[in-house]
Formats: sequence, C-alpha cells, structure tokens
Amino acid sequence: MSQQTVAETFNSAVQASGEGRGEDAEAGFRAVLAADPNHAEAQFGLGLTLMGARRFNESVEPLRNATASPAAEAVWLVCLGQALYLTGDFSGAVEVFDRAACQGPLPANADQVRARAAALAAIINGVLIEDALSLYSADPEEELSVAREAFAVFSAFEQLDAARTIGAWLAERSPDDVVHAYAMRVLTDASVSRAPADYVAAKFDGFADQFDHQLVTLLDYQAPSLLAGMVARHATAFSEILDLGCGTGLSAEPFAGFGARLTGVDLSGGMLAKAAERNAYARLIQADIVDFLRDRAETFDLVLAADVLIYLGDLAPLFEALSPVVRPGGLFAFSVEVAADGWSVLPSGRFAHADAYVRDLATPAFEVLEHEITDLRREGAGVARGGLYVMRRKA
Ligand SMILES: C[S@@+](CC[C@H](N)C(=O)[O-])C[C@H]1O[C@@H](n2cnc3c(N)ncnc32)[C@H](O)[C@@H]1O
Repeated sequence: MSQQTVAETFNSAVQASGEGRGEDAEAGFRAVLAADPNHAEAQFGLGLTLMGARRFNESVEPLRNATASPAAEAVWLVCLGQALYLTGDFSGAVEVFDRAACQGPLPANADQVRARAAALAAIINGVLIEDALSLYSADPEEELSVAREAFAVFSAFEQLDAARTIGAWLAERSPDDVVHAYAMRVLTDASVSRAPADYVAAKFDGFADQFDHQLVTLLDYQAPSLLAGMVARHATAFSEILDLGCGTGLSAEPFAGFGARLTGVDLSGGMLAKAAERNAYARLIQADIVDFLRDRAETFDLVLAADVLIYLGDLAPLFEALSPVVRPGGLFAFSVEVAADGWSVLPSGRFAHADAYVRDLATPAFEVLEHEITDLRREGAGVARGGLYVMRRKA
C-alpha cells in the first residue's frame, strides 16, 4: 500500500467510525495497520471501534499499542483506562488513569471510573472494606450501594474471592435481602440445584421496569425471535401456546403469527404486570413453572421456555412434569446456557446445561428437531453462549 493509499484508507475508516459503520471502520483500521503497524492513530481508532462494539478484551491491545507511541494523547490513556476497567483489570486501570492525570485533570467521568477502580483493586488486595469503599465515595451513606456494585462487578468478572469478601460484608448488613442471600449461596454452597422462588420473584420484580430495554437494547437478547424462526420451519399454526417464564412477554410478538391462544406463567408479579400491558396473553398465571406443569390437566401444542431453564439446575423434574402437558406431535422450544458436562451453577446464579444432558432427559418423550448454538446475550465483557432447541413430543 502506498503512503497515499494508507492515508486514504485511514480517512475512510475514521469517517466510517463517525457514521457508526463499525465493521467498515474496523476493516479500514486493520488494513492500515497491516501496511503500517506503527500507525498510532489507526491503533487508537481500532481500539475505540472495538470498544464501541463492546469487544473490550480485544480493544486493550490496540489501545496499549497506541498509548506506547510518543504521539499518544491523554485521551488515549483515558480510553485504555476505561477498557481495562471493563475487562476487570482494576489496578491496571488505576495506573493508566494516573498516567493520563499527569498530563492534566481527568474528565469527571474518567475520574469516577478511576475512583471505582481504585476501590475495587483495594478490596482485591485485602484492604479493610470500609477503607477500600471510601476510595470511591467519601459519603458513608453510599457505602452499601457502592458495596453492592462492587459485589456485582466482582461476580460478573468471576473475581470470586473478592466477591465472597465483599459479599459476606454485605450479607451482615442486609440479612433480609433474599437476592443477595442467593447470590452469596451460589459462591459458597456447592449443593445449589435451582434458583429459589423468593429470589426469582424479588429479583425480577425489581428488574421488570428496565427488563426490555436492558435485554433487547443493551444486551442484544433475541432468543424469542430466534426460537420463533426455528419453530416456523416445523409448523405454521398452533391452537394453545404455553409460555413458561414468560417474563414481560417478549415472546408474544414473534409467536403471534401462529394464531394460538397464549398462556403465560411466571413467578414474578412485576414481570406478569408488564406482560399484561401487551394485551397478547389470554391467561397470565403467577406460579413456579414445574409446580404449574405438575398440576395441569390441559395440554398445549407448543410449549416455550425462553431464558428460563437457566434458573433450574436439575432439569429432570421439569421434563417429567412437561411430557404429559405437550400433545403428541406438539413442540417444545427452549433455550439453555451451554455447559461442557451435565449441569452447573454459574457465578451469576444462573445454570448451564450440556447438550448431552438435555438430550438424555428429553429423548424418552421428545425427538430433537433442531439444535443451534448461538450468542444468547451480552455478558460482562463477552457473550453468554446458548443452546436453542425445538423438540417434538413423541406419539
Ligand atoms: C430472563 S427472563 C426471560 C423472560 C422471557 N421468557 C423472555 O424470553 O424475555 C426469566 C423469567 O423467568 C422467570 N422465572 C425464573 N424461574 C422461574 C420459575 N421457576 N418459575 C416461573 N418463572 C420463573 C423470571 O421471573 C423471569 O420473568
């Protein structure tokens, strides 16, 4: 590539980045770097583009390369500091923010991230919790909310010793918090086999208002429409659909084309209230999904379970209760998070299931029609991988 072509490719990449065309920007910056690996602006552009795509782990290397250049600007260091924070390298983030601060005062939001990173790094390094938290907020009234945030961040980044330390401190101060109690149990008790009902109800009641925005817009969650596309390859219409763990009813629209009467079941009253606002469900029932299935005399020709089996570890009781409820020839469409073997609880408190485990339980009563591995939703600095299934009830 001639120098002129390098310059033109770089300018096009910058333009693509400004216009939100991330893939074009990435390809352009990479082409420039293939011709000139020392092109610091292209390293920075690539890092920024990867951050914009929430590929924080990948963004660190080009941002480091950019900031190693004599042409590095303070804002490049600030971006690297943010990227390190978002990958869970808190002490690395502090060090880089401090290098940026040598060149002038940090912007307010970077100053805040630096303070948060300093507090989190101090907890990891065994500093007394109150002293560590005071690095983030001088306001003692804010201590609990800062500690909750620290616990969530450590759990998300799987820094489990630090999560247990701050988690135990929090549990002492909020003994009635059932959401925290379960989150701690997951980190300390190997016998956990499902998320308890009081945890599910409290967690999703508190989450119901933000759920759709958080899952669909921020986390790119698409399981309901992906499952609907898979089901459509095997059926055009149903009469009765049962939506297990229906939540706010995100499945109602993608499955509307099948023309069925829709029944939703969920433990969270807050989520059911949101589902009711859609006017798409004939019935919405507050119950545990396994209890609901066990009590059923009626049958359904499609049963859905999008992103809900992740709250059950052992799926044997579910499949046992489900089989009589799906009509012979009827379908069961569902998602799981992927495990290597059997089932396991994740630091998030959700559960992952291996394909072989799912098939072992399902195949006495069901034939597997479709199985796809896909990105379920964003998770921390990466993505949660999921398995999507469509199964047919044997006669
Ligand atoms: C991640 S949301 C998914 C909601 C919906 N299926 C979707 O795809 O948007 C999980 C839902 O399952 C519900 N849930 C979790 N475990 C449950 C259980 N054992 N019985 C009933 N509902 C449950 C939660 O209350 C929550 O509304």
